Formats: sequence, C-alpha cells, structure tokens
Amino acid sequence: MTDNAIRQATAIAHPNIALIKYWGKAENTTANEPAVSSLSITLDELATRTTLTFDTAYKTDRLTLNGKPDTAKLPRISSALSVMRQLAGITTPCHIDTSNNFPTGAGLASSASGFAALVVAANQALDLNLSLQQQSKLARAMSGSAARSLFGGFAKIYLPHAQLEPAPFGANYAEPVAPADHWPLEVCVGVVSEEEKAIGSTAGMENSRNTSPYYSAWIAGNDADVINAEALVKARDFDKLAELSEFSCLKMHALALASRPALLYWSGATMDAMRAIQRWRAEGTPVFFTVDAGPQIKAICAPGYGELVAQRLSELAGIKRVIRCKLGQGARLLD
Ligand code: DP6
Repeated sequence: MTDNAIRQATAIAHPNIALIKYWGKAENTTANEPAVSSLSITLDELATRTTLTFDTAYKTDRLTLNGKPDTAKLPRISSALSVMRQLAGITTPCHIDTSNNFPTGAGLASSASGFAALVVAANQALDLNLSLQQQSKLARAMSGSAARSLFGGFAKIYLPHAQLEPAPFGANYAEPVAPADHWPLEVCVGVVSEEEKAIGSTAGMENSRNTSPYYSAWIAGNDADVINAEALVKARDFDKLAELSEFSCLKMHALALASRPALLYWSGATMDAMRAIQRWRAEGTPVFFTVDAGPQIKAICAPGYGELVAQRLSELAGIKRVIRCKLGQGARLLD
C-alpha cells in the first residue's frame, strides 16, 4: 500500500465475558500469550465502535475516546496499531475515534471489544487481508480477551498444544464454540461502580503469577475446565455450567486475593449480589454469577429469565443500574 492514500474503516465489536477465566500470561512470551485456556460469551448490547483514519497530513497518532481527546490510553493503542502498520509496510499516522456505550475500564471488558474493533478496522483500512485466525492472534497480542471478541456466541482459547511463537502473531488464537442462537443465554450486568478500576488486568495477573502461592494449581486446572465447559455448552446443561463457571470465577479471585499486594476486586455490593444469585438459583431460577477484574456483577440467565433477574438485581442495595444483554455477534466492519 502507498503511504499517501487516506485510508478509513469503521468496525464494531462487543465485549465478552469469560465463563472459564483467563488470568496469567505465559513466561517469556513476546506476544502476550496466555498461560491458561479460557471460554467466553460475547454480548450484544454493549459495544465499541471504532473509526480509523490513516492520513499523511497528520503529524502523529491521536485518539478520541467517547468524544474527547485522550492521551493516557494513546501509547498502548498506538503501538498496537504500529504492529499492523508494519505488516502493511507504512508509517502513516492515524486518528483513532472510538466510543463505548458502557463504562470504560471498569471490569466490563472494554479492552476486549476495543482491540477487537481496532484489529478488524485496521485489517480493512490497511488492506491486510488477514484471516480470522490471524486477526484473533493480533487481537490477543494486544489484549488476551480481545481474541475472543472476534467471534460471536461462545468462543474459546484452547492452548495446551502451543509452542510459544514470536510477535507479532504468536501462537494462540480464539475459535468459535457455538453461535449465539445455539443457546440464547441472557446476561444482566449489575453496575456497582462507574469508576475505572485501580489495578488493571495486565498488572494484576502479572502480580498473581509472581506472588500467588495458588498459581500453579490454577494453571493445572484450566484446560480441563474449558473442555468440560465446552461440552456443557454443546449439551445446553445450564445447572452444570453454572456450577463450573462460578467455580472458575471464584478460583480466579482466590488466586488474585492471595497475591501480594492482594487484589480485591469486589465491593460489598458485589458479594451481596453473588449471595443473592446463589439463593435465587437454589430457589429454582436458572441464573449464575461471574465477576471479572472490577466490582460489577454479571448474572448469566437461561433463555427467557433476563427480565426477572434484571428486576431482582435492580432491587438490591448497591446496584446502580442493570444493563441487559443477549449473546451477540463477533467483531465486524460497518459501512
Ligand atoms: C478477568 O484480556 O484484559 O477479564 O491480556 O493483559 O490485556 P491483557 O488482559 P485482559 O484480561 C481479562 C481478564 C478477565 C478474565 C477473562 O476475560 O478471561
């Protein structure tokens, strides 16, 4: 591609929520390879929309996030984009105009949808013609969970095979497990705080790898959890998936809690909601919880139960608002 053309593309991507968690990076990776397998669901309602404009008239990259110039997040995004510019053989600066319809950096996976949208838009704008697997690898190198947002419905990163491979692609990628219409689960996100989290996932998981006494047990169990979760998704076995998914979530937080300094992502409202959800399930409502690197509570419901669970969640003290989602599509271009 020549360096003087103005190139533009817009993509949309949705966050995903891991039912079997990724927490930990491989040692000695140059491409952000995960140390564990993971399995996730991609949402529909929450979205990142990103327009990239490459133009030689710009002096440097610039970032507009939710309508405002942002210099804090620019370096990470800029260097991610440079990997793709290098593949295209250009150095043209880019205006990255991105917006989220949900709180950024508060444990709602804005890095997953953000980097998935970035890769899909750059692949188009820079005429790279990368396969979905290559795009997923690039997204993973930018943020591990972003690899999974390339796909809709249920997706996994399964890695016991992988030899580490060098950047920019590395070895591991996400792949589809089942499309959204295979099992239209519903998700209610209980927003506990709209603030950005204090310790991001990247720093948090490195802390756990280096200091948590539970780290090797965590690594040893995850491949089997993903194999089992995939079978339960295929069989649409809600009760067993509920148990396994809550186990993975609590195991990840036990690992994080036993890190030094401790990573305590929950607030009181998060725990109250976890207990309430377990009570509702014991009383017969098909719902389970998961929590990521922030205080928000995510209630995963069997098809048809989203309204009831959203209502109950919104009545809990400490839940500021509830966002209802269904399962959505993978990252894609917009006209
Ligand atoms: C708790 O994908 O944000 O949400 O690769 O360092 O960017 P980096 O981490 P990131 O971590 C996500 C952690 C998690 C669990 C998950 O999504 O699997």
